[in-house]
Amino acid sequence: MKLDAKVYIVGAGPGDPELITVKGMRILQGADVVIYTDSLVRAELIDYCGPTTQVYKSAGMALEEIVHLMVSHVREGRSVARVHTGDPAVFGAILEQIGLLRRAEVPYEVVPGVSSVFAAAAALGAELTVPELTQTVILTRVGGRTPMPEGEQLRDLAKHHTTLALFLSATLAKKAVDDLLAAGWSPDTPVAVVQKATWPDQLVIRSTLSGLVRAMGDAHVSSHAMILAGWALQPDLALSDGHRSKLYDKTFTHRYRKGVVEG
Ligand SMILES: C[S@@+](CC[C@H](N)C(=O)[O-])C[C@H]1O[C@@H](n2cnc3c(N)ncnc32)[C@H](O)[C@@H]1O
Repeated sequence: MKLDAKVYIVGAGPGDPELITVKGMRILQGADVVIYTDSLVRAELIDYCGPTTQVYKSAGMALEEIVHLMVSHVREGRSVARVHTGDPAVFGAILEQIGLLRRAEVPYEVVPGVSSVFAAAAALGAELTVPELTQTVILTRVGGRTPMPEGEQLRDLAKHHTTLALFLSATLAKKAVDDLLAAGWSPDTPVAVVQKATWPDQLVIRSTLSGLVRAMGDAHVSSHAMILAGWALQPDLALSDGHRSKLYDKTFTHRYRKGVVEG
């Protein structure tokens, strides 16, 4: 794939090297320069790069250093793949990079990836939006060193009783539980944690809200984990008949199928 002299901000997916998009893989194969977040992106993905690709690890670099690298390579006519874990648009810290690239008038393109929230749901075999149970997923985090904006405290968001996906919150599980209980969640609400979803050492924990802190402590999970909470996470929900979608209901007429009138 012949690439332009610009920055490709590529979502690497959650870990499994087969979960990068075909486009993302082709960019890795063709890029002159690859800069990747080595703390979160699997090194195996870098095997897709060509033998002459210049590869940089960014975990130890500051923003200005990373952007300086990208800008100088593009100005010398090279294509740069900036590889981020999951999907770059979710907690990817790409806005600040894009801001500096735009000021430097360096072109860029964002290539989406599979976010860890969906890799975690897949590991659990779960649907996060279940008819007549919840039709909404809130992607958020527990406020820590990065404070939450006004109105986005977990206990405010939790009042909607939707499925919640908590990024960056493994060390803040106790605060998450306190906030959800304060928002009126029942202590037996199902909760699941997936650490390193799609990595060879992926770990899945199923618990309840009241058991979450202990379950995470027992399994020594304090990083690289997705916490999913809400009734959509009931382990045996698939066996109950009460939550079928209209889409495949034989009595429901839509554009592609005429419903059958029963009786
Ligand atoms: C800086 S954010 C990046 C999120 C990423 N952009 C995404 O879409 O998945 C890092 C957080 O994402 C979650 N995360 C990333 N990769 C993960 C994985 N493979 N398994 C579980 N959680 C993951 C964790 O909550 C971690 O603290």
